[in-house]
Amino acid sequence: MGRLIAFIMARETGRQNLRVMDALSIEQGDRILDVGCGHGRSLTELASRAATGRIVGVGPSELMGEIAARRNCAHVEADRVSVVLASVESLPFPDDSFDKVLCVHVRYFWKDLDRCLRETARVLKPGGCLGLSFRTNADLAAVASFPPEIYRFPALAEVAAALDRADLDLAAASDSTNEPVLLLAEKRRVQVAK
Ligand SMILES: C[S@@+](CC[C@H](N)C(=O)[O-])C[C@H]1O[C@@H](n2cnc3c(N)ncnc32)[C@H](O)[C@@H]1O
Repeated sequence: MGRLIAFIMARETGRQNLRVMDALSIEQGDRILDVGCGHGRSLTELASRAATGRIVGVGPSELMGEIAARRNCAHVEADRVSVVLASVESLPFPDDSFDKVLCVHVRYFWKDLDRCLRETARVLKPGGCLGLSFRTNADLAAVASFPPEIYRFPALAEVAAALDRADLDLAAASDSTNEPVLLLAEKRRVQVAK
C-alpha cells in the first residue's frame, strides 16, 4: 500500500515540483535540500539540473526513504544524491549548508511552523533560496477532501509572517485559490537580533 501511495503521489505532485525547481533557477553546482522528498522523483530531476552539485532528500518515513534511494541508486552510488531519515524540525546538517531548499506539499504536516521554518533557514546559506509550495485554506475543495486531523491547510498570510520571523525575505509569491501557492524566500544575509 505504501508503494502504491508513493507511485500516485509522484504522479500528482510532479508538475508542482518542476514549477518550484524552475522558480529556484537551479545552477550546475548547487547544493540542494528537498524537505519531505517522499518517493524521491524530484531528486532525480534535481541531480540532472545541478549536474556538478549535491542533492539531499530528507523525510521521516523509512519506506519512502527506501523508495527514494532505490529510485536514485546510480546517483547515490556516485555520492551525488543522498536520502536522510530526518524531520524538518531537527535537520542533521551544519548551518549554511545549502544554496537552495525545495519543499513541496509538506507544510500540511508541520505542527510548529516557526520552528520548521527557522530550522530550514538555519541550513540555508545567507542569500540562499527556499521554494515552498502548498495549498492554502482558501482552496475549499482541498480542505474538504483531506482529513483535518492529519492535514492543516494554512492561510498564505500566516506563512508569509512566519517566513519573516525566520529571517527569510519573501521574494515572490504566486497566489491563486485552486492552485498550490508558490513562495520564494531568500535567507537574510544579516540576521535581525530577536
Ligand atoms: C504529500 S508528500 C509530498 C512528497 C514530495 N515533496 C512531493 O512533492 O511529491 C509529503 C511528504 O512530507 C513528508 N513529511 C511529513 N512530515 C514531515 C516532516 N516533519 N519533516 C519532513 N518531511 C515530512 C512525508 O513523509 C511525505 O513524504
